[in-house]
Amino acid sequence: MEMVMRLTFIAAIWISFSFIFTHQLTQAQPGIFDITKFGAKQGDEDISQALLTAWKEACAVTTPSTIMIPAGTYLLNEVLLTGPCQGPINIQVHGTLKAPADPLAFKSATWITINKVSHLTISGTGTLDGQGADAWAANDCIKNSKCRRSAMNLAFNFLNDTVVQDITSLDSKLFHVNVISCNNFTFQNFTIIAPESSPNTDGIHMGRSNRVSILDSTIMTGDDCVSVGDGTTQLTVERVTCGPGHGISIGSLGGSPNEAPVEGVVVRNCTFKNTTNGVRIKTKPESPNPSVVTDVKFENIVMNNVANPILIDQLYCPGKQCTEKAPSLVKISKVSYDNIRGTSSTREAVTIACSGGAPCEDVTIGDIDLTNVGTGGPATSPCVNVKPTFTGKQNPPVCSSDFSAPTA
Ligand SMILES: *[C@@H]1O[C@H](CO)[C@@H](O)[C@H](O)[C@H]1NC(C)=O
Ligand SMILES: *[C@@H]1O[C@H](CO)[C@@H](O)[C@H](O)[C@H]1NC(C)=O
Ligand SMILES: *[C@@H]1O[C@H](CO)[C@@H](O)[C@H](O)[C@H]1NC(C)=O
Ligand SMILES: *[C@@H]1O[C@H](CO)[C@@H](O)[C@H](O)[C@H]1NC(C)=O
Ligand SMILES: *[C@@H]1O[C@H](CO)[C@@H](O)[C@H](O)[C@H]1NC(C)=O
Repeated sequence: MEMVMRLTFIAAIWISFSFIFTHQLTQAQPGIFDITKFGAKQGDEDISQALLTAWKEACAVTTPSTIMIPAGTYLLNEVLLTGPCQGPINIQVHGTLKAPADPLAFKSATWITINKVSHLTISGTGTLDGQGADAWAANDCIKNSKCRRSAMNLAFNFLNDTVVQDITSLDSKLFHVNVISCNNFTFQNFTIIAPESSPNTDGIHMGRSNRVSILDSTIMTGDDCVSVGDGTTQLTVERVTCGPGHGISIGSLGGSPNEAPVEGVVVRNCTFKNTTNGVRIKTKPESPNPSVVTDVKFENIVMNNVANPILIDQLYCPGKQCTEKAPSLVKISKVSYDNIRGTSSTREAVTIACSGGAPCEDVTIGDIDLTNVGTGGPATSPCVNVKPTFTGKQNPPVCSSDFSAPTA
């Protein structure tokens, strides 16, 4: 009898616990944190406090939650959204967020920074407008190495399992997106827009990150479409359209000490329109110590009026800030090019200028068909410090021309 009572008692406690627990879950289940419920208003009133409060509440919830930015136009000052969070978060951007236009309105190097979270999704058809025009006009970094750097639109640091989809990053003051120390990061149907003339508005830069994928996206900028920094491993770029801008670039590398290897890059089924480069690997001379770029594939790529469609440049020296007294010590190996076709806007269609200090190894050239639609005659292909393996048909004949240092 006593046993039965005890069991009944335990069962009763269990039932009330599960009731409370389920009840709390149903309460949290909607999980929608709409910034307008936290005081955000359209117009020129800064919404950063509302966004931060919504983030803080969403971050504390163990079930999936959504931070909602409804349609409309909002002013957002610099914000830092940081984890770790208790559950997955989806930031849905339906409206337009505008950054302050004043380049001096930022304390840090970024407009929107997200740090240390897992399972973050940013989606919606909204726009993040960096309002970069004033910053571009003030940018003198090309001639002043101590120039004041403006703010990037988005910085993602130490994130795992992230998806950025459908949104648009517009007119960033500097790089649009910087991905550092992230794992498993996918950009899907992402759009980046800035004018061809806007300085340093790189699309997506990354470093020290594993398994970044950029898929089905369009990147129009004044600088690199995608730029790949040291420590990038297993990067996939598929069905991306670049242009205008400077194309997809691995590097520059070899300019700083202790760079981690770039290993495992695939760029396939991409289109370049009116870019100054197509697929480029650039490394600086006078490297402080050796580093590595290996296992890189470029395939099924269409070039449309591209100034240097295929380029390895190990004498990369922007603003001639290096003396080229010592060679680059970045070792480039296992690089393949296959099915790359279309038009070049200069004669230098395929330039492979490897380092005298670390010649390229295991470079494979498959089908290449590039025609010069600019002036100066048929397309050429100068090479140095490389002995490629040929597997397909090449127009122009690759490595058939005299080498003169690329100027791009
Ligand atoms: C991301 O994953 C790494 C490696 O598994 C782990 O050390 C780190 O704590 C994770 N970061 C977050 C924010 O969960
Ligand atoms: C891609 O994003 C655009 C703009 O946000 C959206 O209108 C479109 O529906 C998306 N496409 C797909 C296939 O989801
Ligand atoms: C990568 O992240 C996505 C999005 O969060 C997730 O669905 C997927 O399972 C992750 N992949 C791995 C191998 O963890
Ligand atoms: C790339 O394009 C080729 C040929 O157009 C197609 O067969 C292949 O499925 C595509 N691959 C990807 C990953 O998009
Ligand atoms: C490329 O630039 C040319 C002029 O140099 C212009 O006529 C053409 O429309 C541009 N093409 C694209 C795809 O932007």
